[in-house]
Amino acid sequence: MELRRVFVIGSTGTIGQATVRALLRRGHEVVCLVRPRAGVGGRLSPGDSAKLFPGATVRVGDVGDQASLARDGFCGERFDVLVSCLASRTGAPKDAWAIDHRAHELALAAARTAGVTQVVLVSAICVQKALLAFQQAKLAFEKTLVESGLTYSIVRATAFFKSLTGQIARVKAGKPFLVFGNGTFTACKPISDDDLGDYLAGCVDDPLRHDRVLPIGGPGETITPRQQGERLFELLGQPPRFKQVPVALLDTIIAVLGLLGRVVPPLAAKAELARIGRCYATESMLVWDPATGRYDSAATPSAGHETLFDYYGRLVRGEAAAERGDHAVF
Ligand SMILES: NC(=O)c1ccc[n+]([C@@H]2O[C@H](COP(=O)([O-])OP(=O)(O)OC[C@H]3O[C@@H](n4cnc5c(N)ncnc54)[C@H](OP(=O)(O)O)[C@@H]3O)[C@@H](O)[C@H]2O)c1
Repeated sequence: MELRRVFVIGSTGTIGQATVRALLRRGHEVVCLVRPRAGVGGRLSPGDSAKLFPGATVRVGDVGDQASLARDGFCGERFDVLVSCLASRTGAPKDAWAIDHRAHELALAAARTAGVTQVVLVSAICVQKALLAFQQAKLAFEKTLVESGLTYSIVRATAFFKSLTGQIARVKAGKPFLVFGNGTFTACKPISDDDLGDYLAGCVDDPLRHDRVLPIGGPGETITPRQQGERLFELLGQPPRFKQVPVALLDTIIAVLGLLGRVVPPLAAKAELARIGRCYATESMLVWDPATGRYDSAATPSAGHETLFDYYGRLVRGEAAAERGDHAVF
């Protein structure tokens, strides 16, 4: 395996951290550009960020600023690969276009100047039906990357574990598991942070993953929200209790916030977040087959070893701590 100089953006996020660890395990030289205050809620100082990945070089700068990218990030050095796990933490339209699109365009231009010939990008499987601003922003950069002439791997991941663990605390506290409808409208093949990080790092060396858009889920069967709840109750030794939330409730919230948002702009952003919630409630995180008009579990490739239910088991036994991202719906 040829070792490369890899420049990573979005390294302090959930998948970014796992990907940097995986790149380092493979022996690559890794340089990460981080914000002065990084992590959920800006909790990490540069020193904290550096402690996340012993063996990587951590530089502080602004990925949304062309001059900072060159001066503080690439520093006039040569790199082989750009790996991006960068994404808007909220998915709100303005932030999504600033980060998922524009910052990526700037990073791509700076990377080219630094001699980069290959890019590995985390995207999301939901961009298949790009109805929301953050999906459109991601798709717009995917297009730029495909047309760039550089070697690319666009990894459209399915659901992450952190997006499917938000209800453990409420269930432990004796509350019912919330599902939209009867909890079987949607399904996904969740992938663990480390399995996805490993898959992304593997894109650097595996020619079969070059110049391709790669949908990817985790191992095991497709899982519905209802099955998630059932397994949680089983692991906790409690009788299953579900509370059904009508999707129409989200439609009402979206309509009300949308109307109020015309007068109070912050509420327009909240309406978009409710639309994101509706998307998660009604669309499966699987490959979409336009010919049948259905999501196709069998057509959704799997990678890795850890299943969501393995992870639930570790959480319930206290062997792992759940991470809540800024995208959490419940
Ligand atoms: N959640 C899911 O189930 C799911 C499923 C499929 C795909 N995805 C996609 O996977 C990707 C990675 O997700 P993730 O959960 O790992 O993301 P995350 O934890 O929210 O991390 C986002 C990263 O981007 C950085 N970032 C955000 N805004 C920034 C800004 N203004 N300036 C500089 N850096 C900024 C963050 O830096 P800071 O630490 O400084 O904030 C962090 O490193 C996203 O594109 C997401 O849409 C998610």
